[in-house]
Amino acid sequence: MYVVSLFLFPFLLLQLLQSGLALQNGLALKPPMGWMSWQRFRCITDCKAYPDECISEHLFRRHADLMASEGYADAGYEYVIIDDCWLEKNRDRTTNKLVADRKRFPSGLNALADHIHNRGLKFGLYQDFGTNTCAGYPGVINNMQLDAQTFADWDVDYVKLDGCFANISDMATGYPEFGRLLNATGRPMVYSCSWPAYQEESGEVPDYESLKEHCNLWRNWDDIDDSLESVMQIIDYFGKNQDRIQPHGGPGHWNDPDMLILGNYGLSYDQSKLQMAIWAVLAAPLIMSNDLAKVEPRIKNILQNRDVIAVNQDPLGIQGRRVLIKNDIEVWRRPITPQNDVQEYSFAVAFVSRRTDGAPYAITFTLKELLLMNENGYGVQDLFESKSNLGVFRPENHFSTRVIPNGVTFYKFTAL
Ligand code: GLA
Repeated sequence: MYVVSLFLFPFLLLQLLQSGLALQNGLALKPPMGWMSWQRFRCITDCKAYPDECISEHLFRRHADLMASEGYADAGYEYVIIDDCWLEKNRDRTTNKLVADRKRFPSGLNALADHIHNRGLKFGLYQDFGTNTCAGYPGVINNMQLDAQTFADWDVDYVKLDGCFANISDMATGYPEFGRLLNATGRPMVYSCSWPAYQEESGEVPDYESLKEHCNLWRNWDDIDDSLESVMQIIDYFGKNQDRIQPHGGPGHWNDPDMLILGNYGLSYDQSKLQMAIWAVLAAPLIMSNDLAKVEPRIKNILQNRDVIAVNQDPLGIQGRRVLIKNDIEVWRRPITPQNDVQEYSFAVAFVSRRTDGAPYAITFTLKELLLMNENGYGVQDLFESKSNLGVFRPENHFSTRVIPNGVTFYKFTAL
């Protein structure tokens, strides 16, 4: 007995240490992909005036159906997530449970979960750590155990826990506690935490070790809006703060720059490529928020671009970084598979133009400048021009690209 326990001790110690390092629910080993209501549909609750847009079971059934029929599910999009404004303003008087709005969700959330699951998709739901959600519906703070169990009973697969109407100082213990309660239900649920976004807002530096331990993904910063300006501000935040943010993204625990806004009103075709490319480099969750019935075919092609999605979902799960800025062209770079015989990484490289001087801007770099040092060189492919093979480039060779104002070019450099 004594010998066995001595033998097992290092193993058990290792298990203990590892379990302290990351959330052990085994979920989100790749950045989650899906669709969420907030950015496009906000808190539209007037179903008479806007029957196809109001936050209702019809909206989520419609989007589960479109995810399956329009090819999004085949491309990897999986979660259908209800954001704010789904609740009755009061809990059930006798059971104290949360209640979905009776008029807008007349069949109840179990029936909706079944509808989503029957299409091979997963079901996500929004709540808030505080007394109220950001839009003023009841939050979980005084009913955490009951609400975690209710989520499990509703067959929820993904929980977004927002942080309005809460004390920021309670979050460091409260968010982990809700995560533990979710796990204790025995139902695997991806746990998306908004806690660091609220800390950043109040000038506190988030505790990334704790986030990694307790959350599968976390909103780092401000909400996205439907504009290029908003996308660029988020990109700037991730660039400027990359030293403290980038190392913490990885399988099971991701930084989240917020939803994809492609298919709405704010981005042109080329700007849509820009958001998709940078979200791929950032290993960001790809959670669309748009009306899938209204996405133009060419924007749909960007959202379903298999090569770009493969970069986002790369199994190494290493988040990319902004490596240099030259003449207002930003270079963003992410190590990806395949690795060659001597374990050199391949790379996805995005060139983002912050220029507004009209003409497409031609720019040349040596591969060394891009920190692409593999001696055998790289086979280069344009990720937005599928099947294009641009040849082999070695570290001393020059690579040229031409980027339109507020646009992007995006390449895969495969290590040879
Ligand atoms: C916050 C979140 C958004 C959205 C709204 C809902 O602003 O950051 O993503 O969930 O609340 O009210």
